[in-house]
Amino acid sequence: MKKSRSKILIIDFGSQYTRLIARKIRESRVYCEIYPFNSPLDKIKDFEPDAVILSGGPASVYDKDAPIISKEIFELGIPFLGICYGMQITAYLLGGGVKPAKNREYGHSNLEIIKKSKLFNGCEKSSLVWMSHGDIIVKIPHGFIVTSQTENCDTASFENPEKKIYGLQFHPEVIHTACGTKILNNFLFNIAKVKGDWELDDFISGKVREIKELADGKRAICALSGGVDSTVAAVLTNLAVKEKLKCIFVNNGLLRETEAKSVMKYYRENLNLNIKLVNASGLFLKELKGVAAPERKRKIIGKLFIKIFEKEAEKIKGVNFLVQGTLYPDVIESVKVFGASSIIKSHHNVGGLPKKLNLKLIEPLRELFKDEVRIIGKNIGIPDEIIKRQPFPGPGLAIRIIGEVDKRRLDVLRKADAIVTEEIRKAGLYDKVWQSFPVLIPVKTVGVMGDKRSYESLIALRVVTSADGMTADFAKIDYDILRICSSRIISEVKGINRVVYDITSKPPSTIEWE
Ligand code: XMP
Repeated sequence: MKKSRSKILIIDFGSQYTRLIARKIRESRVYCEIYPFNSPLDKIKDFEPDAVILSGGPASVYDKDAPIISKEIFELGIPFLGICYGMQITAYLLGGGVKPAKNREYGHSNLEIIKKSKLFNGCEKSSLVWMSHGDIIVKIPHGFIVTSQTENCDTASFENPEKKIYGLQFHPEVIHTACGTKILNNFLFNIAKVKGDWELDDFISGKVREIKELADGKRAICALSGGVDSTVAAVLTNLAVKEKLKCIFVNNGLLRETEAKSVMKYYRENLNLNIKLVNASGLFLKELKGVAAPERKRKIIGKLFIKIFEKEAEKIKGVNFLVQGTLYPDVIESVKVFGASSIIKSHHNVGGLPKKLNLKLIEPLRELFKDEVRIIGKNIGIPDEIIKRQPFPGPGLAIRIIGEVDKRRLDVLRKADAIVTEEIRKAGLYDKVWQSFPVLIPVKTVGVMGDKRSYESLIALRVVTSADGMTADFAKIDYDILRICSSRIISEVKGINRVVYDITSKPPSTIEWE
């Protein structure tokens, strides 16, 4: 079968930057996927990549459990680019030598290009790059030449232009490397000679065709959450199967003010979706009664959601498919180098829907990153109101109330949330930050209001900037906006007499408080 588009394969050795490489390549309109380092060679061949990028990683090639790939991969006859650990493993497998450096190099370094290279076409002879390594290459493999250096690193890049194998000790994918995008584009377009043919509009028509064929006139159901992902997945499927798609929106009572109503209105009037609203607020509150532990809350909400959804789905006869808004970051197998990564939070709604129903999955967004989903959503006519919504967690306000959740606390938090959202919008920040929301901390502190002592709970404001929610910075917003939020919350929300601002980033904190 003829390949339809150019494809790059990124092999992941556990670097925190692997996904960034993928996003950079997609931004250059080249399709790419990430496979873990231990993927079988046959699977790699089946993907038919036009070129391979070997990512960085935390290991040292000589470590006992270092992630290694088969040397045969270099016999595929396609271009290779090794980045950091990816360069070291290239050197190691092809007969070079790697050793711990005297000084670990971390942060900015000045790169000097010492040999002309296709990889550096159009780059300044001397520029800043981002380094993060403990090992260095002490012997380059036969047939390779060194093309650049930094003060602490004699082999900052090497290449075998004949075999089209390249290595960079620094990270071209991070913003701190001045000529990083140029280098990646040189690799893609001058060395691998791929085409920038990853077009989201082609994706839409192709996907609609694919879903139509897959569904073959059968019925599908979809759980809508009001967020971007499930909405785009549903609308794409709706374009393919029309009235055969039935959507379900479960109001768990943990939503923001007027959310269920306004979202339903949009779905019905603007998006023409066949949707049923299930009001299960009472059930959720009953199950959450007396529960304070975050993970317990998350589990209860997740399980109950599935139970209700299953019950609703069973009422619809002859359903064969379940539509889910799974994104590419949820699909990438995380590489575990040196020990298993621990579960920080059990996210609900990531591929966790009913197994009992025995439905086949339609996951139209499986190959996409969030920013791509937003573009597609816009192109298929989903209004900004939904496309530009800040992410809202599946467990809703329950994980923004520390400790036990009850109706009174939910009402307090809803009022504060409406104020924060209004003020953040007014200040023009709603689309600029990743998320902005209040958290209710039912710990009482003393205040004074109108000459009288008050003893009430406090609200923490959380406003963060982030590219993908994986890491985040607290937003350095204007004191005046904080002041307005604070004074409005205190005067308009009964039960609150203090407002604080959360100034921690992720890591070490997480975005949501629970
Ligand atoms: P944390 O709190 O882990 O959040 O730093 C990262 C991003 O994920 C969102 N979040 C969730 N989204 N289901 C979701 O769909 C969940 O259970 C969930 N928990 C957190 C959070 O709002 C942030 O954007």
